[in-house]
Amino acid sequence: MRSTHFTHAITRKPAASIIKGLRAVDTGNPDLALMGANHADYIAALRSTGAQVVQLEALDDFPDSVFVEDTALCLPQGAVIMRPGAPTRLGEAALMAPHLAALYGDIRRIEGADSYIEGGDILVSETEIMVGRSARTNAAGVAELARLVADWGHTLREVFTPPGVLHFKTDCSLLDGKTVLSTERLAASGCFEGYRVIHTAPGEEACANAIRFNDLVIMPAGFAATRERILAAGFKVAEIGNSECAKLDGGMSCLSLRFTPKA
Ligand code: GLY
Repeated sequence: MRSTHFTHAITRKPAASIIKGLRAVDTGNPDLALMGANHADYIAALRSTGAQVVQLEALDDFPDSVFVEDTALCLPQGAVIMRPGAPTRLGEAALMAPHLAALYGDIRRIEGADSYIEGGDILVSETEIMVGRSARTNAAGVAELARLVADWGHTLREVFTPPGVLHFKTDCSLLDGKTVLSTERLAASGCFEGYRVIHTAPGEEACANAIRFNDLVIMPAGFAATRERILAAGFKVAEIGNSECAKLDGGMSCLSLRFTPKA
């Protein structure tokens, strides 16, 4: 399945400057050694599925640059370079473009001066692309992306990230072509009509950001009740420590671009 199975991923090493990274609530700075160890575990989990994983060097000028997902949308036909809505992150996107151009034949770009969109707000299922408007992704960005992917045959649906939530995928993940993991607050908006929804367990909303990567669901460690629900639905789970990235509102999807390039 093209929305869950991939041959490649791109990650970026956390920069020491991540202590200056953006966060909604300050719960203290991340422990860099622990973050590095968790990042290595994450890459090992991706590689364990047989995928080729590129690890880019840290970018000290961009504290949040470990969260590479926000810089691009990777589709089977090509990649679209985003325009992050966080001013401190805008420059990250152009720095990702050459790495994707080395693997993909068709690279497109969000260019409108008023267009803002981050990859964390985009959930690609087997049948559609859902884009959540948020504090980082605006209507102009959504409309520009819809135009850019139309001739690749993708249908795009605008949805809404709950108020106070960083990204649409902070609250949901695709588990297979027709199944999503979602917080109850996001699913209550009705945006997953037609999908099978597995809710995060009460009090475990922080684990909604997981990824399906080949045969694995990779989720943050420490959310036993939700993990049981995912296992009971027949998925194979790998848990990765996320305590340090969580201090910066980051999760499993934020840490990689996942794709199967088309030359
Ligand atoms: N700290 C991740 C972000 O705000 O984009």
